[in-house]
Amino acid sequence: MAVRDILRMGDPRLLQMAQAVEAFATPELHELVADLIDTMRANDGAGLAAPQIGVNLQVVVFGSEGNPRYPDAEPVPLTVLINPVLTALSEELEEAWEGCLSVPGLRGKVPRHGHLHYTGFDQHGQALTREVAGFHARVVQHETDHLWGILYPRRIRDLRYFGFTDAVVSEHIEAAPENNSK
Ligand code: NI
Repeated sequence: MAVRDILRMGDPRLLQMAQAVEAFATPELHELVADLIDTMRANDGAGLAAPQIGVNLQVVVFGSEGNPRYPDAEPVPLTVLINPVLTALSEELEEAWEGCLSVPGLRGKVPRHGHLHYTGFDQHGQALTREVAGFHARVVQHETDHLWGILYPRRIRDLRYFGFTDAVVSEHIEAAPENNSK
C-alpha cells in the first residue's frame, strides 16, 4: 500500500482508453485498489481512477463519507468499481462545479446526468449494481470518464465557468468530485 503520484492534465496517459480487468482477487489488483484508496485519501479526494496513477485498467474508487471537505454533499459510500457500465436514467443534464486531482487548483461547471444506473465488479469479482442520483451520480460519471480518456474540462459547455478554485465564488464549489485544496 502506498500513496502514488497523480498524473496531471497534459500527460498523454490520461487520454488513453483503459483496458477491462480480466482477473479478480489477485495480489496485483488488491495492491492497486489499496494504492488508489490511500492516494485518494492522502489528497482529500472523493474519487480516483487507475489511469490517474498511470495504470491503464478500468478500476475506480470513490466515496465521500465523513469527508470534511464535503460537509454539504450527500454521503457516498466507499466504493471500488471495476469494468463499469453506466446507463443514464434521465435525459436532462444538471450543471455543477467539479474539480479533479489531475487538474489541480481549477474548477469547472460540468453537465452530468442527474440519475443513472451502474453495474460493475469489486476487486473480489463480486457484481455490483446501483441506481443513484445527485452527487453520487456525478462522482461516478467523473471517475468513469477517466477510463475513456476524458478529463472534465472537455465537458464544460461554457468556459466562463472554468477557473481557479480560489477565484471562483465559494458557494459554487461545495460539491466538487476530487475536490482538494491544492
Ligand atoms: Ni478526476
